[in-house]
Amino acid sequence: MSEDAQHLTIVNHPLIQHKLTIMRDKDTSTAGFRRLLREISQLLAYEITRDLPLTTRAIETPLCEMDAPVLDGKKLALISILRAGNGLLDGVLELIPAARVGFVGLYRDEETLQPVQYYFKVPEDLSSRIVIAVDPMLATGNSSAAAIDLLKEAGATDIRFLCLLAAPEGVARMKEAHPDVPVVTAALDEKLTENGYIWPGLGDAGDRMFGTK
Ligand code: URA
Repeated sequence: MSEDAQHLTIVNHPLIQHKLTIMRDKDTSTAGFRRLLREISQLLAYEITRDLPLTTRAIETPLCEMDAPVLDGKKLALISILRAGNGLLDGVLELIPAARVGFVGLYRDEETLQPVQYYFKVPEDLSSRIVIAVDPMLATGNSSAAAIDLLKEAGATDIRFLCLLAAPEGVARMKEAHPDVPVVTAALDEKLTENGYIWPGLGDAGDRMFGTK
């Protein structure tokens, strides 16, 4: 793992890197892509929840009493940035089934590359939750930064951002707009193309995951 002053964490675990390479391969099937994304999302979730606060609970093992660690009361909210965020959401939810779930619908205007909002539904008490926003591709960072703006307007104060691939431009945009929001990713790619795709990337994550192209 490497860290840029706590803002960016690249989880370069061999299992993640291996699975990511198969996802990047243009010949990987839609079903394979989805399965791998689900697997990687669980490995990334492990990293993004690393510092969740713990408390202890008194239990009895078959041998003795002990104060054993359990997650502290602060609840989690997972926010999927539609539509590709849903590919990360499922795996993370399997690890944290009690989390509340919200959705932010943003699409990218292909000409301006600016985000346009079409849906927003999140749990009411975001201010008392640890919020994990998920979107596989941190490209220009415009949609991600806009989604975080909306979550902050809805009261969220403790937000993390989970993605699969990031471009340097997107990381810089997020750091500028939301320096308080740590970003966890499986890889930091080389650059953005002029069409706003991550290079070398994996293409359009939503299309690859849902087979829409
Ligand atoms: N969104 C995608 O799905 N892929 C990219 O490369 C950039 C944004």
